[in-house]
Amino acid sequence: MAARKPKVIVTRKLPDQVETRMCELFDTELNLDDLPMDAESLVAAMRRAEVLAPTITDRLDAALIGQAGPQLKLIANFGVGVDHIDVAAAHARGIAVTNTPGVLTDDTADLTMALILAAGRRLVEGANVVQAGEFRGWSPTWMLGRRLRGKRLGIVGMGRIGQALAERARSFGLAIHYHNRKPVSPRIAEALEATYWESLDQMLARMDVVSVNCPHTPATYHLLSARRLKLLRPHAVVVNTARGEIIDEAALAGMLQRGELAGAGLDVYEHEPAVNPKLLKLPNVVLLPHMGSATIEGRIDMGEKVIINIRTWMDGHKPPDRIIPSMM
Ligand code: 8YV
Repeated sequence: MAARKPKVIVTRKLPDQVETRMCELFDTELNLDDLPMDAESLVAAMRRAEVLAPTITDRLDAALIGQAGPQLKLIANFGVGVDHIDVAAAHARGIAVTNTPGVLTDDTADLTMALILAAGRRLVEGANVVQAGEFRGWSPTWMLGRRLRGKRLGIVGMGRIGQALAERARSFGLAIHYHNRKPVSPRIAEALEATYWESLDQMLARMDVVSVNCPHTPATYHLLSARRLKLLRPHAVVVNTARGEIIDEAALAGMLQRGELAGAGLDVYEHEPAVNPKLLKLPNVVLLPHMGSATIEGRIDMGEKVIINIRTWMDGHKPPDRIIPSMM
């Protein structure tokens, strides 16, 4: 007898092969037109699904989770960050939450390195000049950026992505510094020749480039506050591929506008998809539309992880990528 297929509702369009496989394995409802669901549709989905497969564009707060039907047992998030899900509220109702760690590490670290290069070497400004047909020829003193080799990179959050960034940055000659809740193992620190700063304030005051690579939790909200941003030196560049909420975006925009910081490379925003209007007018910023994990391979692997988490749960085992409230 064929095993019963659980009802799985997917909130956004996923890569074709992921959707095909999900339809083979589960009683799957897809969102083919890819429009983000509003709160009402999410509640309706949570009243019918045994498994919900959401993404960052779904705000699953306690009020919404409180309206889920008793049949909802698993929220299998497509993405590693789960700050859009009230994990404690889900747990209180017996709903497990999983994510997709590991498979987007390299892609996100690549994009972070690309932003460090782009912001430091004025890639977008230069490309815009050529595309506007305004390139009038080489000049010895035009479009000067800053050399990376020999500079200090301060990584805020030395988890998987922070470490993958450190590996890449070392080959560009950047010295690796980091702030984390606790130091990485001596083996990793040695391999990366990384200097640990227990005090984030002290690290910020000494860096040339700062990259945010920690998860967004209540403890990291505005970790780079207006006060801390002021500790940065005027030639410093700030890069963020983690979550917009970790930086006080209005304070950052103000400092960039006043020339108190050299530049920024941002892939994420505090009020996403809205971007602080001040940032949009600045020449010294590189702004991307949250595309850290946006590779075909990455998105297929993320889908594969969602499937594995659902399958393991279906088979009565603990899904490998469970998030427990104490991790938040
Ligand atoms: C994802 C991300 O694409 O995984 C994450 O946490 O930030 C992105 O790269 C997005 O969250 C999908 O839900």
